[in-house]
Amino acid sequence: MTSTLIDQIGLLVTNDDSYGTLTAERTGAAVVVDDGVIAWVGDATDAPAADTRIDADGRCVIPGFVDSHSHLVFAGDRSDEFEARMIGQKYAAGGIRRTVALTRGATDAELASNAARLVAEMRAQGTTTVEIKSGYGLSTIDEARSLAIAGQFTEETTYLGAHVVPAEFSDDPAGYVDLVTGEMLDACAPRAKWVDVFCDDGAFDVDQARAILTAGMARGLGARMHAGQLGESDGVRLAVELGAASVDHCTFLSDADVDALASGNTVATLLPGVEFSTRQPYPDARGLIDAGATVAIASDCNPGSCFTSSVPFCIALAVREMRMSPAEALWAATAGGAKALRRGDVGVVAVGRKADLVILDAPSYVHLAYRPGVPLIHRVI
Ligand code: NIG
Ligand code: FE
Repeated sequence: MTSTLIDQIGLLVTNDDSYGTLTAERTGAAVVVDDGVIAWVGDATDAPAADTRIDADGRCVIPGFVDSHSHLVFAGDRSDEFEARMIGQKYAAGGIRRTVALTRGATDAELASNAARLVAEMRAQGTTTVEIKSGYGLSTIDEARSLAIAGQFTEETTYLGAHVVPAEFSDDPAGYVDLVTGEMLDACAPRAKWVDVFCDDGAFDVDQARAILTAGMARGLGARMHAGQLGESDGVRLAVELGAASVDHCTFLSDADVDALASGNTVATLLPGVEFSTRQPYPDARGLIDAGATVAIASDCNPGSCFTSSVPFCIALAVREMRMSPAEALWAATAGGAKALRRGDVGVVAVGRKADLVILDAPSYVHLAYRPGVPLIHRVI
């Protein structure tokens, strides 16, 4: 076992509640990492000896990003849809079926190598924890293999058999819900930590969503939900009622939705890359935060609604377009993401937590929004 001292840190973001401020920033701090775990945090002048040393040279050190929402197991490209949207076409859930056809036709090796490429992109941009959903298989065999592939990259695997109704069930959506809550769930539950449903126009309604999430929860999966992306619905309140860890998108929310999120235990995960890439209005992050809801930011990396793997890009959008402060956006993409995954071991720099750290090529995390599009990840630990 080798311990490493990281010192000469310009600014350390800890997100450690015990300091009282949101990002709990410290100057003049140092960190000791031992066997992948944070062993010590304190004033550099008091730092204990370690086997090796990383000189941060005045740079800012932050917790690695926790990207709590992505769809990386797929084949093909839908840049033509993006191009059409940029000249006025609306985003619709139906495009998912195109990716389903291509994903079913791909080999396991092709799917795994595409996912590996995207995970590597994420890591190079500072993401150290990622959630990956199935949802482009939509048959028992293709959902199960999608989850097996997702599991090669993360423990945060999500069963999204209820992404849309596949073409072969167009005339029998109830039959598809039976499959998702029956045989497909049997095959997928052992490979998943979470169950998710796309509850929106063109996908699943609130009653179907309730049936799908409760079936998954009965098998020991934690619930999460896609809702409020294309319009207001009762889906957001259903997620809170069921105690889902997170409800994602939240682009269209009623006052009652905001109240429910503020008083419940469900994180509102905002995905600003989707609004960028679909030309929709951005979610009301300020309304949520000011009401007291917990907000996370994630990439939603997928071939349809948002094909970015970059959390720094999403942070820049959150600051510029959603009026989050740089500190709020950074917190949402680290500690917020951890809360959306109900993880206590990541998103925070404190003794005993995982040593997932990013050294930025900047003196402050404000540069993530101040210098958008610039590669600012100096080193990922
Ligand atoms: O989170 N909204 C549902 N699912 C994805 C989009 C999937 C697609 O268009 O391929 C999302 O935006
Ligand atoms: Fe999604």
